[in-house]
Amino acid sequence: MKVLVTDPIAEAGLDRLREAGHEVVTGYELEGDALFDAVADAGALVVRSGTDVSRELFEAAEDLVIVGRAGIGVDNIDIDAATDHGVVVANAPEGNVRAAAEHTVAMAFAAARSIPQAHARLKDGEWAKGDYLGTELNGTTLGIVGLGRVGQEVAKRLGSLGMDLVAYDPYISEERADQLGAELADLDEVLSRATFLTIHTPLTPETENLIGEAELAELEDGYVINCARGGIVDEAALAAAVEDGVLAGAALDTFAEEPLDPDSPLLDVDEVVVTPHLGASTGAAQEHVATSIADQVLAAFAGEPVMNA
Ligand code: NAD
Ligand code: MLT
Repeated sequence: MKVLVTDPIAEAGLDRLREAGHEVVTGYELEGDALFDAVADAGALVVRSGTDVSRELFEAAEDLVIVGRAGIGVDNIDIDAATDHGVVVANAPEGNVRAAAEHTVAMAFAAARSIPQAHARLKDGEWAKGDYLGTELNGTTLGIVGLGRVGQEVAKRLGSLGMDLVAYDPYISEERADQLGAELADLDEVLSRATFLTIHTPLTPETENLIGEAELAELEDGYVINCARGGIVDEAALAAAVEDGVLAGAALDTFAEEPLDPDSPLLDVDEVVVTPHLGASTGAAQEHVATSIADQVLAAFAGEPVMNA
């Protein structure tokens, strides 16, 4: 069978598919008609977040059995269209959780201690020791929006660094939150108590623009960390809130449009730290999600259950 891979995944996953006798075709720059032509005779399509798997794409893909997402978020895949076309959508929900949690912790420190800004100035030959007075995470409150796999790993790590944990997640049990040392509260209370707010929900109609101008104002003098999905936090409102001193800073790994527009207002605000969707980009995480998705493609081709593992 032909497996079309349109976003880069680890070689170990590609090798597993080849060793099973399948034709692996990579097309990382494919767009528009070229993408539709390439997928027309594919039995499987493997993507990360860079491919828009639209209804039109499913219409062009007559032989498609499975779309494999080498990672967690499936917001770039039209699930209703997949269902209408009888195509399985599988993701790899475990393999990059720790990488994403570690990146979140790194981003919290980067924002709190202005590490990227100070680094850039020192590389430019400037010893700006007097210009930076950071915030200690220890003793402050971390507000977690979305206490799922990544949110829980972040809770464990930042809780162990002395932060108090308060979380908003209407779908998680009080018991699980207790086990993590986190208190469940509604969003308003989380915003009013947190110094650092970290977002870990999927992007859904319910979470889109969940954190806008009014919510940011409640987080008075705090920091926003978003390593989940762009679109959950209103970017223009966030840039304005940091610029105007309503917030102390922000650190973002994910954006409403990716790649981030070079004219984004976020890039004009010094206290906004940005990385180009690197949360899952460790060797271990990439190998894990690539081999996991290869196994699921092989299962689908063999008519076996697809486990989303
Ligand atoms: P998950 O499904 O395990 O957890 C998501 C949590 O959000 C769940 O507990 C759910 O109950 C909660 N939730 C859903 N809707 C909510 C709402 N309206 N308000 C509050 N909570 C809500 O997902 P995960 O594996 O923890 O991933 C979290 C996010 O991180 C996803 O958006 C995923 O795509 C993203 N992610 C990003 C990277 C990266 O590279 N930056 C890497 C991994 C995951
Ligand atoms: C994910 O949802 O798993 C992340 O977007 C990681 C990625 O594939 O880049």
